[in-house]
Amino acid sequence: MAPPIQIVPSVLPADFAKLGEAVADLEAAGVDLIQWDVMDGQFVPNLTFGPDVIKAARAHCTVPFEAHLMVYTPDAMAAQYVDAGCSRLIVHAESTTHLHRTLGLVNSLGANAAVALNPATPASAVEHVLDLVDMVLVMTVNPGFGGQAYIATMEPKITEVRQMLDRRGLDHVHVEVDGGISGDTVGRVAAAGANVLISGSWMFKHPGGLKAAVDELREKATAA
Ligand code: DX5
Repeated sequence: MAPPIQIVPSVLPADFAKLGEAVADLEAAGVDLIQWDVMDGQFVPNLTFGPDVIKAARAHCTVPFEAHLMVYTPDAMAAQYVDAGCSRLIVHAESTTHLHRTLGLVNSLGANAAVALNPATPASAVEHVLDLVDMVLVMTVNPGFGGQAYIATMEPKITEVRQMLDRRGLDHVHVEVDGGISGDTVGRVAAAGANVLISGSWMFKHPGGLKAAVDELREKATAA
């Protein structure tokens, strides 16, 4: 039995001059939590949010924050993002030599640890750390930018990760997808086994506004 559907925005498309308003608007639209795409300009060719930016936004809403650490130094940064108010840190399997140790560090800081897989990385890469995480993120784009095309060939990997978790009795561990999630793709990823659905550009550009976008994603994912 997969965990319940969660609709989660990426803040990447928001107006960076008004992030406090943006997170308040997202909470009002009914999102379950908010994802911050943390990029260091090295692991991915983009540079985004430091911990102080997230800390400033923290006071403007009550929904949980998670930090998607697209960085080469997750061990050095983890404590700062927990202190900034993130209750989950997502570490890329490709970003650290000692992934087991890094995920253990996140747990020791009192945050939930999650592990992310880039499109070329096999599900087997996380086989030996599933006991340390409350979520596995299967990227459905190559990370670094919003607004990219959804990579449909990731669907079998989504299913494989869900089955790996269920075989180990880890039914409570979430499967998240991120990249190109829209009204057209959300049903496919939910049917494949994802329950935490990240949307950035499609949600912020929805003609009906944020709440209509959140409601459409939730309805289509639940029906899948
Ligand atoms: C990695 C980022 C993006 C963002 C969502 O590049 O993590 O995937 O969150 O991007 P959209 O929803 O615009 O594809």
